[in-house]
Amino acid sequence: MHTNIAANEVEEWTNMLLIYKFAIEEVNTKLKILNEEFQYIHKHNPIEHLKDRVKKPKSIMKKLQRKGIDITIDNARKHIHDIAGIRVICSFTSDIYTLFEMIKKQSDIKVIEVKDYIKSPKPNGYKSLHMIIEIPVFLSRKKEYVKVEIQIRTVAMDFWASLEHKIYYKYDKSVPDNLMSELKQVADSISQLDRKMENIHKTVNRYKESEDIKDDTQKLFVFSMPI
Ligand code: GTP
Ligand code: MG
Repeated sequence: MHTNIAANEVEEWTNMLLIYKFAIEEVNTKLKILNEEFQYIHKHNPIEHLKDRVKKPKSIMKKLQRKGIDITIDNARKHIHDIAGIRVICSFTSDIYTLFEMIKKQSDIKVIEVKDYIKSPKPNGYKSLHMIIEIPVFLSRKKEYVKVEIQIRTVAMDFWASLEHKIYYKYDKSVPDNLMSELKQVADSISQLDRKMENIHKTVNRYKESEDIKDDTQKLFVFSMPI
């Protein structure tokens, strides 16, 4: 593969990648704001934690080559949609969709693509909600639209995906059948676990709401008592 790039080319690639770092920072800020506001209103954080990364030039070049596309910066910007990647880990499946809806509604965000591997998991059991968005980044002399891949999943789905990813590479992408079927079984258990956790969460929320209503009625009653 032609990866012996000249020094000036390295600089060009590094500059090109800088804007993806800015885009990540913008999206991270948006997510943090949503998380804090949600916490303020609902007394619950939809985001457990965030991870991000900018793809390395070597991986971008490899991906272009795999797709049979010439290795140029323009092609990377056009065809590689996960140069900037953010992984959002949530506690509950409902948090994933809440966040998804909130992201979609922001007027400066353009949603390019959505893949819902939660509603339709991959055959191996992989579950996650993927979206490719585009956001404007304002530089000193220009405004550029930058693509960011956001993967949103629960803690349990993330645990599964990181193990599966490790196994996939340990076995050089050809995982033995018995391990594959075991991973699939674990994925099913994880779905069940997520459903149970969600139900408990809903029950607690309903209880909290009824207590709040009781509190409010009591306050109202005290307030309206004749002195
Ligand atoms: P690439 O996989 O990036 O070439 O793009 P794609 O068009 O196949 O997109 P997709 O949305 O299916 O996957 C994007 C990313 O999701 C991958 O790069 C992984 O980080 C993650 N992903 C997708 N499928 C799996 C999977 O089966 N296991 C794990 N662990 N991660 C996955
Ligand atoms: Mg893929």
